[in-house]
Amino acid sequence: MPHEHLTHPSAADLAARIPRGFLIGTATASAQIEGAIREGRRTPSVWDRFAEQPGRILDGSTTAVTADHFHRHAEDVALMSRLGADAYRFSLGWTRLQPTGSGPLDPEGVAFYDRLLDELHAAGVSPFATISHWDLPEEYAHGWLDRDTAARLGDFAALVGERFGDRVDAWITINEPATVTLNGYALGLHAPGHSLLFDALPTVHHQLLGHGLAVQALRAAAVRGAIGISNAHTPVMPASATEEDAVMAMLFDIVHNRVFADPVLIGRYPEVPAELADLFGSLADVPADDLAIIAEPIDFYGLNYYMPSVIAAGAGTGDSPDGMSDAMAELPFRLEPLEGHETTGFGWPIAPEHFETVLGQLRERYGDALPPVFITESGASFDDEVADDGTVADPRRTDYVARHLDAALRAVAPGGQAFGVDLRGFFVWSLLDNWEWAAGFTQRFGLVHVDFADGTRTPKESFGFLAEVNRIRAEA
Ligand code: NOJ
Repeated sequence: MPHEHLTHPSAADLAARIPRGFLIGTATASAQIEGAIREGRRTPSVWDRFAEQPGRILDGSTTAVTADHFHRHAEDVALMSRLGADAYRFSLGWTRLQPTGSGPLDPEGVAFYDRLLDELHAAGVSPFATISHWDLPEEYAHGWLDRDTAARLGDFAALVGERFGDRVDAWITINEPATVTLNGYALGLHAPGHSLLFDALPTVHHQLLGHGLAVQALRAAAVRGAIGISNAHTPVMPASATEEDAVMAMLFDIVHNRVFADPVLIGRYPEVPAELADLFGSLADVPADDLAIIAEPIDFYGLNYYMPSVIAAGAGTGDSPDGMSDAMAELPFRLEPLEGHETTGFGWPIAPEHFETVLGQLRERYGDALPPVFITESGASFDDEVADDGTVADPRRTDYVARHLDAALRAVAPGGQAFGVDLRGFFVWSLLDNWEWAAGFTQRFGLVHVDFADGTRTPKESFGFLAEVNRIRAEA
């Protein structure tokens, strides 16, 4: 399908506007690219187990091989060099490094990340390591419902901080706790597959406490790198001007954005209007000591932005772009389409202008309490195919990346909605086509195409575009 309307800024235009020292990188996660789940002493994670359950993953695929990065890491780092990337965000496979989730680090697991870090340093690519990107050890029976899991994350952070602290430039304690709470514990779409609706709220607090304990552990380990968290933010709009829609939009903004950001940045959970107070009982009276740990100062805030959300009062059908969930039909609100916008392969609206909204909201809500910001994820899935001549035309991804980078830069420039926010970098999700959780291999997010039958990598046109941006910057 032709897309004549694609009018994104040119590589030269973007290159000229990216400040010196700003990092352009790509992001991945262990469970989505490594495979090799039975290598060494690695034990199953909750996602390995979840994927084995019939009906959980759209195409029935598993974590066993994915993009085979465990065996192809050198080739992947070479691709980063070819991209001219400044940085790479990856995650430390928890059960590869700490089989069964307790005790010392496993030497074979350590050796894998040692090799990766050495290769990144040799290539001049700055390593950003995520400590917990969803792959919890299955031994933690109740997962994030259990307060003890927070302490486990703190212990794991201490071990990896001591072992890799001299070679990691930035640490992300935990990735998108909002998605874990909503999809994993409230709606049953992600591992570990609970459908607890608002009874999932303790997982908010336990993940944030785990974040705070991890910050403390990394500081105690005297790591060289900066420390932060990655939160997914979606700007929320009511579907109509009715009071009901406005209240439900506020509720969604609170459960998706504010309960994860406010405690970290300003040390308290958001106040909720009286009519919603019942739903938030478990967060209303958490110990003040916990909040002090959660608000432990961080060096940067990681923002993952994909799309805005339009919210209406009243339950939905249970059918969402991320899968089917009966629990969804019991929620007091539903997601509505954003009119007038094209969508990605996931059906997510493409709305770079709302990147400016969300950065503006961060500035407005948190002011000077907001540390420097990295966009730790932004990207889009499309149905990409390798043509007979070996190329992969993905004009819509090029357009997505160019317009989102453009929007982020515009937001923080003088006169922009988020002027005053100290934006330090932008990581495209993702380097490679990878295993997209419950969607399996059906959503391709990579700048590089991966043939999941044999692991072959083919850079797409969007890769060429970003490489051009980086080449121009390097020459300037
Ligand atoms: C958020 C997650 O951090 C990442 O694992 C996922 O693949 C992307 N968004 C796309 O859904």
